[in-house]
Amino acid sequence: MTAIAERKTRLIAVSSGKGGVGKTFLSLNLATALATRGHAVWLFDGDMGLANVHVLLGIQPQFDISDAMAGRCTLQQTFLDGPGGIKVIPGASGKREMAEMGALETTQVIEALVTLQPAADFLLIDTGAGIGKHVTTLARLADTIVVVICDEPASLADAYGLIKVMYRDFGSRNFEIVVNDVSTAQRGHLVFGRLQQVAMKFLELNLVLAGIVPHEPEVTMITRRRETLISAAPRGAATSVMLEIATRFEKLKATTNRARPKLSIVDGTFGAQSP
Ligand SMILES: Nc1ncnc2c1ncn2[C@@H]1O[C@H](COP(=O)(O)OP(=O)(O)OP(=O)(O)O)[C@@H](O)[C@H]1O
Ligand SMILES: [Mg+2]
Repeated sequence: MTAIAERKTRLIAVSSGKGGVGKTFLSLNLATALATRGHAVWLFDGDMGLANVHVLLGIQPQFDISDAMAGRCTLQQTFLDGPGGIKVIPGASGKREMAEMGALETTQVIEALVTLQPAADFLLIDTGAGIGKHVTTLARLADTIVVVICDEPASLADAYGLIKVMYRDFGSRNFEIVVNDVSTAQRGHLVFGRLQQVAMKFLELNLVLAGIVPHEPEVTMITRRRETLISAAPRGAATSVMLEIATRFEKLKATTNRARPKLSIVDGTFGAQSP
């Protein structure tokens, strides 16, 4: 088994606090943007219990992550071929045992993914909404926590709530803010500025802006056709921002300093925990 300390896969969690602000949209399009730039990218649907990345892609998986965890298949058998060469690891949908999964099991899933060989360059995790233990566990494990916000007061309040919990309770500082679905770049800067001000005032934390994704009127049509921005609108404004964010994330380093539970994994199958 490859030691965690040697891992090269960069882990990016895409979170938001509030639901419906574009986490899945961003995860999918950022994953394909990174793949376009030549990286091996895996996208894990970490919306435990209500996974839907595969639905967006119109793929019906034979196995999902809950099957791998129960030993019914290997991790690799859950991998779906996504757009642009990305691999999608489908989360389980409508399975109570997944929705109630504990922090240790969530960690095991991620550890299993980052110890697979050949390794991915990037593992993107669509964490789902909220600040429940699934989300905080996935975010804690990530090298970078992308916090998606949009131009709505509730989105800012919930993003701040997520950042506060991650910063105060788990010591995370590795936030990158993406303002999504805004009418203009100017509006995006304003929205980001509001969050930045609050984080500075109450947490003394300086937030970083990763990008401003404009409202893309064709998204509904693109989604219906099961396409991504890169393939359907390669010269669109939203696509170029995705590519810029991808370039930015290429500079990330895989950190190795977090305490992680040890696992014994054989051929991508979940095994008993090591002492
Ligand atoms: N920049 C954008 N332009 C136009 N539509 C967008 C944009 N970003 C997201 N959307 C649309 O907004 C809706 C919500 O996006 P998405 O499902 O990605 O949000 P989410 O944060 O993953 O939601 P949930 O919390 O329920 O998982 C989708 O219909 C998506 O296509
Ligand atoms: Mg989603």
